[in-house]
Amino acid sequence: MVRKVLAVLAALLVLLPVPLQGPAAAAPAASRVTYDHHSLMIDGRRVVVQAAEIHYFRLPSPGLWRDVLEKIRAGGFNAVSVYFDWAYHSPKPGVYDFTGVRDVDRFLRTAERAGLYVVARPGPYINAETTGGGFPGWLKNVPGRGRSSDPGFTEAYRDWLHHINPIIARHQVGRGGSVILYNAENEYAANTDAAYMQDIQDQARADGIDVPITTNDCCDAADWTSTWATGPGAVQMPGVDDYPQSFDCPNAETVWGPWGEGVTERLRDDAPVFAAEYQAGSIDLENAGYERCRALTGPAYMKYFYKSNLMVSGATLFNYYMGFGGTNWGFLAQPNDVYTSYDYGAALTEARQPTTKYDEFKRQGYFLQSVAPLAKTDPAAAPTTDNPAIGVVARTNPDTGTRFALVRHADRAATTTDAATLSWTVPDGTYALPVQVAGRDAHVLVGAYDLGGQRLAASSSEIMTHAHIGGRDVAVLYGTAGSPGATILRYPAKPQVRVLEGDVRWAFAGGDLRLDYTHRGLARVLVSGGGRRPLLLLLGTDETAATFWRAGTDAAPVLVRGTSLVRSAAVEGGTVRLTADTAQAGEVEVFADVQASRLRLAGGAGDTDVRVTRTPSGSLLGRVPGPREAARLPALTGWRVHDEAPEAAPGFDDSSWRTADRTTTESPMKPKAGPVLYADDYGFHYGDVWYRGRFTATGAETTVALNAITGRRGRYLVWLDGRYLGSAAGGTQADVDAANPDPGPGRFTVPAGLLKPGRTATLAVLVQNMGHNDDWTADDNRFKQPRGLVAASVEGSPATVAWKIQGARGGEDLTDPVRGPLNTGGLYGERSGWHLPGYPDRSWKEVAAPAARPLAPGVTWYRTEFGLDLPGGQDVSVGLRFGGAVPAGSRTMVYLNGWNIGQYGGDIGPQKEFVLPAGLLREHGRNTLALAVTSTAAATGGPGPIGLFAYGAVRGGVPVPDVPGPSYPLTR
Ligand code: GAL
Repeated sequence: MVRKVLAVLAALLVLLPVPLQGPAAAAPAASRVTYDHHSLMIDGRRVVVQAAEIHYFRLPSPGLWRDVLEKIRAGGFNAVSVYFDWAYHSPKPGVYDFTGVRDVDRFLRTAERAGLYVVARPGPYINAETTGGGFPGWLKNVPGRGRSSDPGFTEAYRDWLHHINPIIARHQVGRGGSVILYNAENEYAANTDAAYMQDIQDQARADGIDVPITTNDCCDAADWTSTWATGPGAVQMPGVDDYPQSFDCPNAETVWGPWGEGVTERLRDDAPVFAAEYQAGSIDLENAGYERCRALTGPAYMKYFYKSNLMVSGATLFNYYMGFGGTNWGFLAQPNDVYTSYDYGAALTEARQPTTKYDEFKRQGYFLQSVAPLAKTDPAAAPTTDNPAIGVVARTNPDTGTRFALVRHADRAATTTDAATLSWTVPDGTYALPVQVAGRDAHVLVGAYDLGGQRLAASSSEIMTHAHIGGRDVAVLYGTAGSPGATILRYPAKPQVRVLEGDVRWAFAGGDLRLDYTHRGLARVLVSGGGRRPLLLLLGTDETAATFWRAGTDAAPVLVRGTSLVRSAAVEGGTVRLTADTAQAGEVEVFADVQASRLRLAGGAGDTDVRVTRTPSGSLLGRVPGPREAARLPALTGWRVHDEAPEAAPGFDDSSWRTADRTTTESPMKPKAGPVLYADDYGFHYGDVWYRGRFTATGAETTVALNAITGRRGRYLVWLDGRYLGSAAGGTQADVDAANPDPGPGRFTVPAGLLKPGRTATLAVLVQNMGHNDDWTADDNRFKQPRGLVAASVEGSPATVAWKIQGARGGEDLTDPVRGPLNTGGLYGERSGWHLPGYPDRSWKEVAAPAARPLAPGVTWYRTEFGLDLPGGQDVSVGLRFGGAVPAGSRTMVYLNGWNIGQYGGDIGPQKEFVLPAGLLREHGRNTLALAVTSTAAATGGPGPIGLFAYGAVRGGVPVPDVPGPSYPLTR
């Protein structure tokens, strides 16, 4: 993923030959998902798709999938977009696992139960900052270029598709599930091969995929879209990726749309405009920390860009990347762009906490879901403005005549606050509306709209949501705090107006009820009579609007003000039952059918009756409890320590290791001399790998010259006859670079007198493999770049070195399929189960804390246990925090109950806090923490201080079963 080359790439792409015309993969006639120029239709009903991207593989706790999916639904989304990561499921050619944390069937079921449609994105290539861009490590050994129709690659990806497609197929809407779209490939824009693109679609159809096929187009490539609209590889309903705000997190305050207007192009006339990946966060390329990325893509950006996109392009499908980012646990990360956390600065943090971005999604998402005419709009004449600083863009629904006007600064860089009066002519009349734009704010106003049983002629407030509840309409409108607002409703006769709360002036003339006010707090106006059913108008600010939740029930929806999250609601025999989370005790107000007079709060340990009174607004008002007690998190004590790296000693028994003597490789980078030493060629694809090389010494050796490729942030450590010689940074560049054949050079002087002539000398090298390059450019020079040693020689000696290699125990034949291929590498402790619960560490030395003992170069393990008994019926999101400065010279891998939940230090990133997800974390039991610290130099102490903390705690949450995983010893 190299943004800066996009422009160049786009220029090159227009030069690519246009392939022969041929048939595009047609959708089976039976599909219940159809589309036209304006929108998707499900069973003939137009739908605006508001999706959040989420990756199940970045949350290895199936119980928590429900939590996150319910939060996404409650935040105004009606869909999720999901990559399926081939590497996560396949440790070895032909071997696939879809159980446990890999149970995508369960994930899709959970999404459907949460009321979310699914855009399924199984690749085969996904990018997504995952190792290999989703390609398994073993694919580096398969002949044929990745992302092409070459036979070797074709056979491999078809096998993946034939495993994943049937699972997706049985979750399609037509089969009782919720999958509505199938995304073929990912930003397939460079080195393209139409036959491959076509075959993915043909395989999908053969596997029973009947929903429309899409692809996320990038870089104005337009290849699977307008240019080749009917040619091989063309998809039915293409979408476009947009990251207008760039990934410049350090400069969050000043960056404003450097990568374009962010207006999604229309690619086909017969398909709706689809923002297939629209920026909703950022990778942290500069190690600024994800809060900076959240600031880069915060509510101001969301308002301006998302609303502009809606109104300028008329898009009706949006997927926001990411809705919840999650964690690059184990060796899931692609090494060049990301570290352990994939928080992404998203609306929900990695620790599952909602942010102000979540509030903005909720305001916009509820609007999209409530105002049906948005699903079909065309450009229209804009209202006139008396202040040129304020620009207006308008659309109209050709069937209903509903008008929409986007109001924002004409100069998108403006930061001033400006006011104007709009003159808006709608079928109901011409109206003067006061508007105000503060900085990068943007408002979508609605006119000529049948709002339930009402007629909204025009308003300068935005609609958040409205619902027909208990014989009346309830509408939540909002505007920037302090800005003027006017709302005009039409009535056949003069209605009764009661201002229940706030300062709202009203007048009735010529059928228009005009309300004038300033957006402040929450004003309430009850309108009845006048020939329409009653209307309760709630006029809020951004902040007060965000306190509302909407939940569907079997009958009318319920609106709720207050609580931290409403997951669902039901009305049963006069009682409203809310399943809600509360971070603290506070007010709750429920707008439900008037028949309902009682309130029960579900969630938490059990149902609680909430005493309520009926308000003048006709709602129920009460107080909800917060968490019962604070979670007590124990201090981490009782540490034990053990040094390892016995492989460095000359006498170490490596007889079971593989001999590294291959002479051929599928990697485009060929060894210049000696055997192929690349780890992948011996089946060791993830984590650390050890090499031991023997040669007969002459005593004339001067230098050990090595060259290793690790991916960014990786190092390698070198010993000769048990003596530590030092370390070097491994090669990092994304592509094999002919101009730089020694990407990770390391020269180590042989200490005088160390080697005895005629005796066997032993070199031992520990190489960190930080993950595989992606294949964004569809170029094997990039993806098939080796990992591990790529050159090794002993200068001053003619002797050849005989090499052995060892990575993760079992290589592609997993010893721990539950935790899977990405969990462990080839450290001695990992191979011996030191990371696992139950490992007998009683013989290890006691140490007060990891920081308390000096570190030698090499590998040191620390272990401790802690017990937890978190309060029942609460969701406490627990983290592990390292104090002090992030060490550059040592890298710590953190194992929680045997699961590798992250890497700390070692120049990997700024991250000091690591999420311990419930499920992996035994919330009611014993937990084992193991740290594997690789240090390149002697240091005064190990990492630390180390402690547990809570990111947040709420009453509520969902039940999260412990994720099973084998203890020591592994039986395979
Ligand atoms: C897109 C890509 C995604 C992800 C994103 C950056 O180009 O399709 O998979 O890599 O960029 O986070």
